[in-house]
Amino acid sequence: MNVSEIEPQAVDTPITRSALFIVATLKPGSDNRDSVRSLCGDIAALVRSVGKRVPAGNLSCVMGFGASVWEALFGAPRPASLHPFREIGSGGRVAVATPGDILLHIRAEHMDLCFELASQIMTRLGSAVTVVDEVQGFRYFDMRSIIGFVDGTENPSGRELGKFTLVGDEDAPFAGGSYVLVQKYLHDMAGWNGLSTTEQEHIIGRTKLSDIELDASVKPSCSHSSLTTLEKDGQEVKILRDNMPFGRPGAGEFGTYFIGYARSPEPIEEMLENMFIGRPPGNYDRLLDYSRAVTGGLFFVPSATFLESCAQ
Ligand code: HEM
Repeated sequence: MNVSEIEPQAVDTPITRSALFIVATLKPGSDNRDSVRSLCGDIAALVRSVGKRVPAGNLSCVMGFGASVWEALFGAPRPASLHPFREIGSGGRVAVATPGDILLHIRAEHMDLCFELASQIMTRLGSAVTVVDEVQGFRYFDMRSIIGFVDGTENPSGRELGKFTLVGDEDAPFAGGSYVLVQKYLHDMAGWNGLSTTEQEHIIGRTKLSDIELDASVKPSCSHSSLTTLEKDGQEVKILRDNMPFGRPGAGEFGTYFIGYARSPEPIEEMLENMFIGRPPGNYDRLLDYSRAVTGGLFFVPSATFLESCAQ
């Protein structure tokens, strides 16, 4: 098939106000694998059916699959860079790996749309999977993360978006696909709020109110922004993030669901190394003194064209 005829999944959905993140494991058995493949073939139609009811609701769903189930579901070959999530860090600062074979990233302006689509999907999957994590994310005031800083500013856009997020000729059978890495973080909000605004700004590398990048003369090399800025051959390498706050204030839970899409897992993993181990080692991301990763998974997001072909 000509690459220009391949339709990616809705990786590039514009930022929405709500999202549902569901991570599930696949139960053994050919019936269960059939249920998942049959859903793959029908997912676009399901999104249309639910989304049509609220045309301005921007409903979308991205499905990703982990290394441990790829061959069982779709046979060989597997996407060239798909592997299990590699734990990074040590001691009290670890990007942990947790179970998960299938990721559903459902986005819409309103949670009722996400909720309805997730309900329809789960009805289709029945007992084929076990949901191991489910998070309802919401957009905080002026696109801010739960720690009070605007999140998503430096995302690629326009023509850069496809260049940084979609697999191309380097892995032709999987062109139009994407890699996605997710992590659920819990924050020590009392500790974070105990810092002055200037201390917080040095940790993130941007001003809090106006979201302007700190000048190089004052921006620490351990700031979140410095450690997640990568260059290859003199060019910046970007990833697409659509993080969402979540939480249960009554239970003292305040979190960020990190989700990063890229053309290869490599840049996201390098960012994690810089954050958790440090660049150079020891010069780690101080955001991690107030944030703990409690889940971690890596998935491949095949193109919508690939998913549709599962129906045949
Ligand atoms: C604790 C969870 C996290 C929070 C609350 C958080 C928050 C933020 C904020 C507020 C910014 C600045 C505004 C922006 O450009 O979006 C930012 C930038 C960024 N973050 Fe995170 N982040 C988190 C985890 C991560 C992780 C795990 C990665 C990658 C593995 C990452 C990658 C990036 C990148 C690439 C940028 C843009 C840097 C730049 O070009 O200046 N973040 N993040």
